[in-house]
Formats: sequence, C-alpha cells, structure tokens
Amino acid sequence: MIDLDSNATTAMLPEVVEAMLPWLSGNHANPSGSYRTAKLARKAIESARQQVAELIGADPDEIVFTGSGTESVNTALHSLDQLAGEGSALVSAIEHSAVLRFVESRGRSVKSLPVGDNGRVDPDAFSAFCEGVAYVSVMAANNETGVTQPISEMVAIAHEKNLPIHTDAIQAAGKIPIDVRSLGVDMLSLSAHKFHGAKGIGALYIRCGLQFSSLLHGGDQEKGRRSGTENTASIVAMGEAARLAKLGLEEGVPDRLREIRDAFEAFLLSEVRGCVRNGDPAFRLPNTSHLSFERCDSAGLLILLDDAGVACSAGSACMTGKQKPSHVQLAMGIPEQRAKTSLRFSFSRLNTMEEAMEAAAKVKKSVGKLRNVQGNGVGPVAVYTS
Ligand SMILES: Cc1ncc(COP(=O)(O)O)c(C=O)c1O
Repeated sequence: MIDLDSNATTAMLPEVVEAMLPWLSGNHANPSGSYRTAKLARKAIESARQQVAELIGADPDEIVFTGSGTESVNTALHSLDQLAGEGSALVSAIEHSAVLRFVESRGRSVKSLPVGDNGRVDPDAFSAFCEGVAYVSVMAANNETGVTQPISEMVAIAHEKNLPIHTDAIQAAGKIPIDVRSLGVDMLSLSAHKFHGAKGIGALYIRCGLQFSSLLHGGDQEKGRRSGTENTASIVAMGEAARLAKLGLEEGVPDRLREIRDAFEAFLLSEVRGCVRNGDPAFRLPNTSHLSFERCDSAGLLILLDDAGVACSAGSACMTGKQKPSHVQLAMGIPEQRAKTSLRFSFSRLNTMEEAMEAAAKVKKSVGKLRNVQGNGVGPVAVYTS
C-alpha cells in the first residue's frame, strides 16, 4: 500500500519503537515509586519532556503529557472555559472536531471565525471578531487542506485585548518549525502519532505563569496538571519522535516533502482534466495536497484507489465513511457538489518520489475509470464496488 494518509496518522519510526520497547517489557515500574526502577522511569519521562519541549522551543516545565491530541485540546479548552470571564469562545470555522465539539459542550456561546476561500483567517478581520469574547482557539495548520494560519499576528491582537489563546498545532508540529516564544501562544496542543510517535499520547504546552485549571483530577501526576499514572513507554516514544522530527526539520525534510508533494500535484493538475487544488498554495504544510476531481464522487475514488493500493482520504479521517461534505471545505466557500469530489493526499518522510508518482498515475487512472462508469452526475458508491 502506498500510504498517502499521513495527516490521519504516521508509522512509528524504527528508532521510536526501539526507544519504547524497554518500557513495554523490562521496566514496568510506576514512575511515582521510590525504588530504583521507578526512578529510571521518572528519568526517562523527564528526558522525553525535554525532547518535546525542544521541538517547540518551550521549557520542559511547560510540557504536560496527556492521553491523546484530543485530550490536550480538551484540557486546554477546559482550562480556558473555567478561568475566563464572561463572553464567547472564539474558534475558527475550520477547527478539528476536538475543538468544535468541546466548545459546543460547555454551554458558553461560540463565535465562529470565518476563513477566506484560501482557507486562511484574515488577521485584520480577526480584531473585530474579538468583541465580547472570553478566549480564543485557532489551529496552526488544518488537517484537511494543510493551510497554515497567521497565529503570531492573531496572538498579538488577542493579547492586546487580554484574551488568552490556544492553538491546536497537532498537524503542524514536526512538519514545520514551531517556536512557542515567537508565536506567543498561551497553550498549544500536540499529538505524537502525527509525527511518527505512538498513538494515544499527546502533550500540552502551558505557558509558564498562565493560570491553569486541570481537566483530570486524581493522583496529581504531571504536577497536578494531568492526573493518571504516566504512560512511560509512549511518553519515551514521543520524546524520541520529537527529537527525530526536530532533526528532520534541521536536515531539510520539509523541502524534500514539498518537492514530492509538488511533483505529485503538478502531474495531476496538468494530466487530469477538471482537477483543482484547494487552499492557499503558499501558506500550507509541505506534505499536504487537497484536490477536487470534477465529476468524481470522492467515496467512489477512495474505493478504486484502495483497490489500486493507494491510501488517502476524503475530508478528515474522522469523516471517512460519512457522506457529508466537510465543514472545512464549506467554510472555504467550496460548493457542496465540488466538496464531495475532494481528496486529501498527505505525505511523510517515509514516502519516496517514485511511489508518489506511481500513486499519481493511479489517481489519474482511477479518475478516468470512475468518470466512465459514472457519467455526468455524482452517483451512488455501490456502482463502483462491483
Ligand atoms: C488538527 C487536529 N486536532 C486534533 C486531532 C486529534 O488528535 P488525536 O487523534 O491524537 O486525538 C487531530 C487528529 O486527526 C487533528 O488533525
């Protein structure tokens, strides 16, 4: 299978698995214990905290390990919701469901920050939306289109109005450089499996000095900020994945990914009639390509591509299987009919140029096949499965 679905998840790198293994079988000690093996586990966790902090330019004390990216986001928003005064939660219209569903669950009114047809928030328009707002959450990069947001500009405006701001950097981390000091954000969420770590482990950056209210209460691990016995193996794996991601950023992995993605995209844009790119071509992650294929139902295309050995997705991973056009595309003003013809291709450092071009040829062939059976309209998926 050619894996072009890295925004959904990534494979663990061999070094990451290697780092994790001793904590899965060997040393199983609870890091809160007072004996030797427990102290080794504690030391390994603190070293991973340092590695994660280094990926985003934070101090280790500002990093709290969580049980997933979703938990990081929920923890950040819970704290903001608890501590902020009256006013709405301001979130962009293209946030991941981890943000959208959480803010909807709290009974506070929610204000939706629009994006342009390029998928970006206009920082000049942002100021007006801050009226009557208690806190802000805007993602650093979108999971579907890869479009990046002007976070530091928004932070400056939010802070001028004394509004705390969280950013979901789950897709951005490890793919583009992130520095919490230059961004200026108050909280920032990470998820290890998006940068070749394990699934079910995340981290939350909490700016030193920021008032914080925990979501989970219990044994007061993570300095009381996230109770629950630490997942030593996955934390160590996240540290190693962060170290390798930082190294990759320094060694030009983003440039290599951009080259592969651009070649893949250029082939399809020139070779497939009615193929359109979505999202700002410049302000986006170097690994993501979001394309619409006129007169091609994306669910049908996914089936043909699966058959041809290419993994990718329509909308975000969480939407797969649902026939609803994604809220991200609708927010960008992409008509519903076209939104249903879009696919996301997302690359990782494990992809080669050869397989990207092989996949591009398979996409071209699948589009042709689908258009032949489908005629002019967007029809039922069942036709293509037989
Ligand atoms: C932007 C964004 N936020 C949050 C999440 C949730 O992360 P996790 O799967 O680690 O819970 C994802 C995962 O797809 C994501 O892409």
